[in-house]
Amino acid sequence: MTFEELKPKLNDILTNTSTLRDEKLQKVCHLLSDNIDYYDWVGFYFRNGDKEELILGPYVGEPTDHTVIPFGKGICGQVAVSNQNFVVSDVTAQDNYIACSMTVKSEIVVPLFVDGENIGQIDIDSEVLDAFSESDERFLEYVNCEIAKLFTS
Ligand code: SME
Repeated sequence: MTFEELKPKLNDILTNTSTLRDEKLQKVCHLLSDNIDYYDWVGFYFRNGDKEELILGPYVGEPTDHTVIPFGKGICGQVAVSNQNFVVSDVTAQDNYIACSMTVKSEIVVPLFVDGENIGQIDIDSEVLDAFSESDERFLEYVNCEIAKLFTS
């Protein structure tokens, strides 16, 4: 399915009035991992209150030991500090990387802003080398913008 085809489906999930926020996020993880071949692990991390650490939220894929990630650590922890997308074409070339599975070859992390504040991120792992392009970045920015509305209303 193309990104454009996924957008209305995303909208359906996020505007459903009978599901809770975490249920919506879980459905978004399924939507993306079920419909995009190279999205093998899809999950959300959120800042833990005022602490400088991320906590794992809803996800789809292999369970990970890394349910708490300090700011600055790994790709996710770096994005918590930089507030910028991080596209890793080859995870073996990264020094500051937390391996969750030996089959992962590339990764993308896009921050989630609510009223200009970085409250968390979407994290996607792929078993394909160099899987992510600028079109993934634009699409995931769109996804996060739509999700941000769940945190303001
Ligand atoms: N690889 C990430 C850790 C999270 S897992 O991919 C689920 C990182 O380096 O921050």
